[in-house]
Amino acid sequence: MSDPTNPHIKERTTPQWGLYQRENFWKPNDGKIAPFNTDPAKLEERAKERLSEGGWYYASSNAGMSTTHLANRQAFYRHRIIPNQLVDTNTRDTTTTIFNHKVSAPIGFAPIGINKIYHPAGESAVAKVAGELNLPYCLSTAGSTSIEDVGAANGEGSPRFYQLYMPHDDELTLSLMTRAWEAGFDALILTTDTWQLGWRHDDVAHSNYAFYRGFGADLGLSDPVFRKRCAEDGIDPDVDVVQASSKWIDSVWHGRAWSWEKIPWLMREWKRISGGRPFAIKGIQSVKDAKKCVELGVEGIVVSNHAGRQVDGAVASLDALEKIVEAVGDKIYVMFDSGVRGASDVVKALAIGAKFVFVGRLWIWGLSIMGEDGVRHVMKSLLADLDILMGVAGFNGVEDFEKSILESGPKSYNLIPEKRKL
Ligand code: GLV
Repeated sequence: MSDPTNPHIKERTTPQWGLYQRENFWKPNDGKIAPFNTDPAKLEERAKERLSEGGWYYASSNAGMSTTHLANRQAFYRHRIIPNQLVDTNTRDTTTTIFNHKVSAPIGFAPIGINKIYHPAGESAVAKVAGELNLPYCLSTAGSTSIEDVGAANGEGSPRFYQLYMPHDDELTLSLMTRAWEAGFDALILTTDTWQLGWRHDDVAHSNYAFYRGFGADLGLSDPVFRKRCAEDGIDPDVDVVQASSKWIDSVWHGRAWSWEKIPWLMREWKRISGGRPFAIKGIQSVKDAKKCVELGVEGIVVSNHAGRQVDGAVASLDALEKIVEAVGDKIYVMFDSGVRGASDVVKALAIGAKFVFVGRLWIWGLSIMGEDGVRHVMKSLLADLDILMGVAGFNGVEDFEKSILESGPKSYNLIPEKRKL
């Protein structure tokens, strides 16, 4: 077990995340104190018990038969870490840099909408924990808390990015980007795989779309341009909340695809508003699209299949990452998301070539179970898991996560029973 009096501790440049293990081991053994089990399968089970039916379906649903989700997990199982022995890891450092921010670890909060369906504390609680831990927070356009409130909760100087679902209303897009910049969100991440939600059986079968029930449109309801649009349609957003929030979500997930031609305009406008801060695209899964991003001067890509929620039967995001890194890894900042459930997954994605990894469902389950404390517990546990893994497997910093530390099994290798949803 980690020893807080270890003389090497003072030499470390990053917090002793691993001591969170000790803290939990020392809790009184009365069966009540340990917040909850962070094994992803148990987390999910516990969140299910806590959530409303709608909250559970929305968080857990995937596109179609969940085969992309399964592929994401199988790809992680296929790659194996090769630990090193007798390496002096006593001064190991978990930090990295993303978009000029030095952060605690190569781990960020993926953009996830309508957090208030999981817990009334919503996005503010999540952003607060992200700020505390110095991990980047990414706010979704489908969030249920205003941009300004999330910025304030995240705190002065904390690294935060804004994820854009781009409306077909340029004035509204400009308003959202301006608000984001003014509230301290200093990178823009455009999501391109979700003009409309994928076909998710559970949500469709249960008419589970909170926005059409007047819930979750806070980014829109707090936006001056959107309020003007409501007025033009004779909707008073403070009275006709259902109509206003339906109109909002129909501007966000409008079902009308944008194409590459629009990207230069968006980049130019974001650069103008932000004084040149980074612009990235999320949802890239093909080498062709990654190359197009490089060609257009996009600074970052998030290799993501939206956690398997958009296209069923799609390539595993980790497999896409491998090919994309090979093609453009030295030309663009490559980030990763989809299917990450533990520190070993983070390490594998970084070893394959991602520079940074976003996690989503893990903290959503934490939020669902115990609000702000739940998010903190899950993320501190993940950091501890990473710190300990580095300590016992001989890694001193994120630069040690390279391809040679992985052994990969055959593509057909499948450890997970078909039914297991994790
Ligand atoms: C939105 O991003 C969703 O996956 O529901």
